Amino acid sequence: MSFPTTRLRRLRQTPVLRNLVRETILTRDDLVMPLFVCPGTNVRIPISSMPGNFNLSVDLLVEECRRLYGLGIQAILLFGIPEHKDEHGLVACEHNGIVQQAVRAIKSALPDLYIIADICNCEYTSHGHCGTIVNGDVHNDLTLVTLAKQSVSMAEEGVDMVAPSDMMDGRVGAIRKSLDENGFYNTPIMAYSAKYASAFYGPFREAADSAPKFGNRATYQMDPANGNEALREVALDIEEGADIVMVKPALSYLDIIQRVKTTFNMPIAAYNVSGEYAMVKAAGANGWIDEKRMVREILTSIKRAGSDIIITYHAQEIIKEL
Ligand code: PBG
Repeated sequence: MSFPTTRLRRLRQTPVLRNLVRETILTRDDLVMPLFVCPGTNVRIPISSMPGNFNLSVDLLVEECRRLYGLGIQAILLFGIPEHKDEHGLVACEHNGIVQQAVRAIKSALPDLYIIADICNCEYTSHGHCGTIVNGDVHNDLTLVTLAKQSVSMAEEGVDMVAPSDMMDGRVGAIRKSLDENGFYNTPIMAYSAKYASAFYGPFREAADSAPKFGNRATYQMDPANGNEALREVALDIEEGADIVMVKPALSYLDIIQRVKTTFNMPIAAYNVSGEYAMVKAAGANGWIDEKRMVREILTSIKRAGSDIIITYHAQEIIKEL
């Protein structure tokens, strides 16, 4: 093997050739854009740690959806910031809840925009935890009741898909059962299956006002050190009826995305979360990186790892180049 007969540089010689042999192509079909809805009218509050993202009242949210849809965004993931919170997050289950109002308004303006509703209690509870607190910790089975209720309420308003992000045991099964009992057997569940207790959610918690008032989420979200456990979480969610499984965050967990893909061959979503977005934006604003190139590289790597769906705050920028 003194002379290289195989020269891998041969196929890198021109842009056309590189295009022809490229293995991973990012498309607009891969993207989901997260959005935050808040009470009031004509409200547009910038999220300081997430430049380009806002808390929007329903009227302005509809306008934002119109703009995004015009750019080619086909799907959004909705989070709500309610006017009042309560102990159990029941405000998330009301017909006039903030997300319910938003869903009705968006659907009447843009019936084809695909709406995914995040299902969780942390934005709606006074204590900021993802469920009902008993003896200082989130009570798993009591929380399943509110999650199922919230899911049915969203389906009644016309959301296209529900995405439970709470990490309670058995929630996919509980939600599937309630949806089916109410006739919503065609509403898919995208489960945040391997969701880690991550420092990368910091900017989101500012945006959604959902930081826990005491303690942390380590008794329900996963330990970042664990990979095998992620496969157990995914296996259970599939067994309980998940249609799509999610890994979150994305960048520090590309190995998990790949293991889930090769083990289960299910549709996979990855959430390129707020902290991942904030780091790129901060470095870009300082001129320390080529932001556009970096965004493309990051999203391509998430797809290359095995993700079919990429939930990302960069969606509105990258789509202009796809
Ligand atoms: C709600 C939820 C969180 C995110 C999505 N759904 C926050 C959390 O678990 O604390 C984070 C999204 C992001 O950081 O972009 N449980």
